[in-house]
Amino acid sequence: MDLLEIVGGSRLKGTIPIGGAKNAALPILASSILVDGETVLRNVPDLADVRQMLLLLARLGVKSERDESGALRLRVEDEMNSHAEYELVSKMRASICVMGPLLAKRKRAQVSMPGGCAIGDRPIDLHIQGLRALGAEFDLVNGDVLLHAKKLKGTDVFLGGRFGASVTGTANVMMTATLAEGRTVIESAACEPEVIDLANYLNACGARITGQGTPQITVEGVEKLEGAEHSIIPDRIEAGTFMIAAAITNGDLELQGARMEHLRAVVDRLRRIGVIIERSEKGLSVSSARRLEPVDITTQPYPGFPTDLQAQAMALLCLADGNSAITEKVFPDRFLHVGELNRMGAHLRKEGPTVIIEGVKRLVGAQVMASDLRASASMILAGLIAKGVTRVHRVYHIDRGYERIEQKLAKVGANIRRARE
Ligand code: UD1
Repeated sequence: MDLLEIVGGSRLKGTIPIGGAKNAALPILASSILVDGETVLRNVPDLADVRQMLLLLARLGVKSERDESGALRLRVEDEMNSHAEYELVSKMRASICVMGPLLAKRKRAQVSMPGGCAIGDRPIDLHIQGLRALGAEFDLVNGDVLLHAKKLKGTDVFLGGRFGASVTGTANVMMTATLAEGRTVIESAACEPEVIDLANYLNACGARITGQGTPQITVEGVEKLEGAEHSIIPDRIEAGTFMIAAAITNGDLELQGARMEHLRAVVDRLRRIGVIIERSEKGLSVSSARRLEPVDITTQPYPGFPTDLQAQAMALLCLADGNSAITEKVFPDRFLHVGELNRMGAHLRKEGPTVIIEGVKRLVGAQVMASDLRASASMILAGLIAKGVTRVHRVYHIDRGYERIEQKLAKVGANIRRARE
């Protein structure tokens, strides 16, 4: 197993290219099941989660290959299998994105129920509620969700849950509705840019989707979808992570490809604490030159502050000049990084879904263990500024969602290297 070793204290300076968005790529890859002919996807990041999705798709009869230009070409070659098995689904929750496409195209989907994960139990009731509304029969067989339908019919679907809209739930219902008969109106749909990107790809294939990016999405069913070319949007969470890397090291980074319009809530919070963020020729420039002010953050569905940047923001606020509070409204148990940051000298106190952060003058390097993808990123950020050496163990989590993070950071001056345990 690999670990990352970081010697803290370097000021980051330079340009970092932002890769394609993991959370846009995964449902778009899954939707290749719906499509006749060849799909060509550009800007698909080379991540462990993407490779995992391609493995699952291969089992489901989708052939894929990277061509010389780096584009990913996908084509359905065999429609016999509609079973996403435990062995693959248990490794990645986003495997659930194949459920809607299998049901829509093959009229049958058997998907192992994703279990709980490091950020709390993550139900799929909204996915199933939406697909049943479109006419699917539902059963639970040996831990697998079994859905089948002779015919799917458009209808009104409400997708609001206890914690707001569901991103992959919206994706599943939207993908299924493209091939259902008639009109589907999804109310309380997720508004994330990744949902827009999926809708734009499906429309390029011949779907008729409007309202993407708003809480009401309308899908007029079509007979079939034909392969198209599409380029995945830049990853706003990767961009946000490097924005925080610039802020925490008092550095100066240009994030090539980062889009201000996808990061408004993050930009607002970071500017409030004293980080300078401007549009640049190729993306965004982010710098800071002084000790930062404290701020309160509440994570919310888009366009609110993303839960996927909560852990990273916490690492930053550990060093602010005063007390901050972070409240998690999307995954209230997503605080596994709190104990690890405290081991690096942070003063964090958890009170229900809120963490009170008492700013300290410095963090100190330690051996830390990452328990999920974004928690790992927060350990790396803390390590960049901590005194001495930080070793982040179990970095396979980071490889799920960041492409060569240590190379990108080393290029702008971080003292970071990958080593074997
Ligand atoms: C997606 C992202 C993930 C991000 C999350 C929230 C992908 C591949 N992953 O995950 O990185 O952290 O959005 O922005 O895009 N919920 C229910 N019932 C359901 C589904 C969800 O109650 O059927 C709850 C969840 O427990 C959570 C909230 O709704 O509290 C939002 O979850 P959801 O948007 O579904 O997350 P994912 O789509 O799994």
